Amino acid sequence: MYKSSLKAIQKSGRFRERRVYNPNLIDFASNDYLGLASKYKLLDKAIKLIKNYNSYAPKSSMLVNGYHPIHKLFEDRLLELQSFENSIVVGSGFLANISLIESLVRKNDILFIDEEYHASGILATKLIPNRVVYFKHNNPQDLEDKLKSYKYNRSLIAVEGVYSMSGNICNRDIIDIANRYNSILIMDEAHSSGVIGKNLLGIFDYYNLPIRENYIKMGTLGKAYGSYGAYILASNEIISFLENRAKPIIYSTAPSILDIALALINLDYIHQNRAKLSKKIKNRHKIIKDILDIDIKSLILPIPQNSNQDTIDTQKLLIDRGYIVGAIRQPTVQKPILRVIPQIGSSKKDLIEILKIISYNNSK
Ligand SMILES: Cc1ncc(COP(=O)(O)O)c(C=O)c1O
Repeated sequence: MYKSSLKAIQKSGRFRERRVYNPNLIDFASNDYLGLASKYKLLDKAIKLIKNYNSYAPKSSMLVNGYHPIHKLFEDRLLELQSFENSIVVGSGFLANISLIESLVRKNDILFIDEEYHASGILATKLIPNRVVYFKHNNPQDLEDKLKSYKYNRSLIAVEGVYSMSGNICNRDIIDIANRYNSILIMDEAHSSGVIGKNLLGIFDYYNLPIRENYIKMGTLGKAYGSYGAYILASNEIISFLENRAKPIIYSTAPSILDIALALINLDYIHQNRAKLSKKIKNRHKIIKDILDIDIKSLILPIPQNSNQDTIDTQKLLIDRGYIVGAIRQPTVQKPILRVIPQIGSSKKDLIEILKIISYNNSK
């Protein structure tokens, strides 16, 4: 039925398949930026926390009776750390983007979205035809030109704190433009929360910006936070609107309690250890600068490749040496890259070793 399509995908070097990799491979591929995914002591704490309650499954939507005290504890903890008015947990980052974009962009509104925004946001734009304008990646000038040239009731701007493939940091001028044009700013912090900023709280922390009413922060728990799920931080009015209009929040079972409990424990761990973790992150940046002469600000290191086949071959070579990195090809990116995550759970020795292999391989 789909044989010819699959063949075409294979022929272009874009074929994907999920695979269970050897667990002994050293992980430079995943988004486990802080190495929390294997800290079993934190998991034990989360399980202990859950045992204080008389149920551990979400059982229904949060808008029925699936809203559990642990959801509320996590939401409150997020608010203690960042001065947003309100917060809500969501099943995943993918669902959070669908929730925000599908529900908030109303008739006569326009969403201005970075052309490199995550696939979940791009998919959501298909649900709001004629209300979407793409602007050039991380380009404030293009955004402002477009804001000036369209007519709308509300304007919304969707960007990422750190872009998932390039590791680029959101240009600060874009945030200033959102404020000047009174736009609602949707900030996807999947790859910035837990990784950048003095307190590891993401892009607003990184630029030391006070939180304003027009800011919406979406964060995921499946990356630096070492769990699964997502959250949205925003004004009371926006959170209330999402509770009333966002279909993935209303019509989906509440987020997993175990995952949120783990995220709560991990959030506290990150907050308590933020100085130590930040130091380790900076140390990774220095190693990369010393070996590859590349400056990175997040924990994403993209290494451009000549072709899809080269990308796969280099990934294979690294696997043979005991390391796993991401081999990212079109359509995820325009040009293929090796996506190396210098996560701080790995040893410095291993990072130095893999960077040297990559450097040697690139120079051939
Ligand atoms: C920028 C960005 N936003 C959203 C998501 C989706 O989040 P989740 O994996 O929690 O569904 C991802 C990746 O997974 C992402 O990279």
